Amino acid sequence: MISERVDLTLDSDQLEKAALDIAHTIHSAVMEGGEGTRKLADLLHGTWLGHPLHPVLTDVVVGAWTIGTFFDLVSLFKKSHQVEMIADALIQVGNFAALPTILSGLADFSTIPEPAANIALAHATANSIGFALQVASTRARNRGDRERALSCSGLAFVFLTTGAYLGGHLAYAKKVGVKYFEDVTEPQEWSPALEATKIREREPRRVDVAGQPVLLYRQGNQIQAIGAVCPHSGGPLEQGKFANGCVQCPWHDSVFDLADGRVVHGPSTYAATNYETRIRNGMVEVRVVPVS
Ligand code: FES
Repeated sequence: MISERVDLTLDSDQLEKAALDIAHTIHSAVMEGGEGTRKLADLLHGTWLGHPLHPVLTDVVVGAWTIGTFFDLVSLFKKSHQVEMIADALIQVGNFAALPTILSGLADFSTIPEPAANIALAHATANSIGFALQVASTRARNRGDRERALSCSGLAFVFLTTGAYLGGHLAYAKKVGVKYFEDVTEPQEWSPALEATKIREREPRRVDVAGQPVLLYRQGNQIQAIGAVCPHSGGPLEQGKFANGCVQCPWHDSVFDLADGRVVHGPSTYAATNYETRIRNGMVEVRVVPVS
């Protein structure tokens, strides 16, 4: 009994390793692909939307395929060419919408936080099988083989429902795509952070102000401050790479503008917390800029 448990643990570990290997390979290709590839990844992550794009697209796919399957069921009881045409059209809409949805899912998967990697792989596998079955169903519909078409779509529905369940688990239990922390609202008044002389040129400092981790960074006479925790999945930004007025997260390479916490590159679709700074009596003081 004990050895069976050990085997199961090993399987889970191996699955996670395989998932992370695939994710890292995709992410490395994006990072090495240059600015154009990075912008395409940003588009797919949804950085322009301020919200992950993938769940928005999945609504279209799941909606079209689910209603299409409903009309398939109706066609079993009511022989109607019109009902069959509606079902066929909806399944085809889902097929077309699935392509950008898969790409956005791949982009998010490439930077998946480790604890969610194996569930994300299972989610992607179930949905890929579902997609392949819907394509097979459409080909059967085009040939006029309705029995095969409805069998494929029915089976696809089982895989897609499983994929949807796992997708919900990723968002609600593993918090993938969810902002890592709640909006920071304190301090609203100027509060001391650190003596100005302790912040050296281009040497990031992490301090706590009003219970919040704050990253301080000096460039010339200017000291900038943003939240020290990455909104994507909690990476320590003070350990990131600093260049061109920005910081790159050490975990999945999101880039934030040090001037205001704005997202320059994903995967994060949420900005880092923005703080104003000033120096009073040799002390750097900060106050949060509320999220509008
Ligand atoms: S934790 Fe993922 S990009 Fe920062």
